[in-house]
Amino acid sequence: MPTISINLKNANYDVIVEQGAFTQIAEHLKPLKISGKVAIITDSNVGPLHLSALKEQLASITKEVTSYEIPAGEASKSLSQIEATASQMTQQGHGRQSTIIALGGGVVGDFAGFLAAIFFRGVPFIQIPTTIVSQVDSSVGGKTGVNLPEGKNLIGSFHQPNLVIIDTQLLATLPQREYQEGYAEVIKHAAIRDADMLAEIAALDALNQQPPTDLIARNIGIKAQVVEDDEHETTGVRALLNFGHTIGHGIEASVPYGTLLHGEAISLGIRAALYLSEKKSNLTASESAQVLACLAQFNLPLKLSNDIKTSVILDKLKSDKKFVSGSIRFVLLKQLGEAFVSQDIDLEDIVEAIEFLRS
Ligand code: GLY
Repeated sequence: MPTISINLKNANYDVIVEQGAFTQIAEHLKPLKISGKVAIITDSNVGPLHLSALKEQLASITKEVTSYEIPAGEASKSLSQIEATASQMTQQGHGRQSTIIALGGGVVGDFAGFLAAIFFRGVPFIQIPTTIVSQVDSSVGGKTGVNLPEGKNLIGSFHQPNLVIIDTQLLATLPQREYQEGYAEVIKHAAIRDADMLAEIAALDALNQQPPTDLIARNIGIKAQVVEDDEHETTGVRALLNFGHTIGHGIEASVPYGTLLHGEAISLGIRAALYLSEKKSNLTASESAQVLACLAQFNLPLKLSNDIKTSVILDKLKSDKKFVSGSIRFVLLKQLGEAFVSQDIDLEDIVEAIEFLRS
């Protein structure tokens, strides 16, 4: 079973990647010696599929398990939902000795992680991610948080999980579109750090929702390495994970929630970033084409609808965290597998790249 050890200044934890790991949860949790109550946070999509199986397994570890189901969707990442869940947990006797388990995709992981960061000034938490994006990206690295009306993830904390358990078998139950959108992040990791992996991704069957565990583990390994190099995103290394996300987030925020899935918007953002990498750096057209072929293989969009106005995307982009005091730290590729943060991208370049997406 591939296990990735994350070694940080104040936290060390394992990411277990195994087909069928979910059926061995009790075994995997034993080394943590959980003694207090356990609160499972899940959502209205994942709860009906996997919650009762998880509770059954936890019964052999502790009798004190409660669960909280938040509505599926980004709207649940709110301070009011945090308050409501924390109140319920308190009423049910949770406190400093409790452990939180996040069972779900990125929304559940970010939400439960932030709750764990602030509940009784911080309790341990375990991630059991159930989507591709949450498995290869958001469950690892300790970014937790909720949204404000003014923007995504504006309230949050770095709070590392104590364990991440990744069962690729859980991906089989995802709707096909949600399975495929996750590959935008898989492709992003390969594009910024491992050019050879792009060929492996290109060889995958986009309809087979049981990806090779080894490939997923190595893809998570890229994220793990970046987090170890720059846990708190202070040196610029972790910012490389934003490849495709500056324009991608702007596009995602410009349409009603759910119109474009996160990975679909990021796919467009990656195409824009490739365009600018060719224009401002040394990336070749054939290198771009390799990445674009991977995105197309997973049915990810590469063409921006004319219904989404450039001015709206720019407005959204300016309220993004990555737009620091009016200047953009934009991630480009020098070559496949080598990303850097450029200071040489201005609004005009961004407008040009957005317009290019319409072609
Ligand atoms: N998902 C980007 C990061 O964890 O930094």
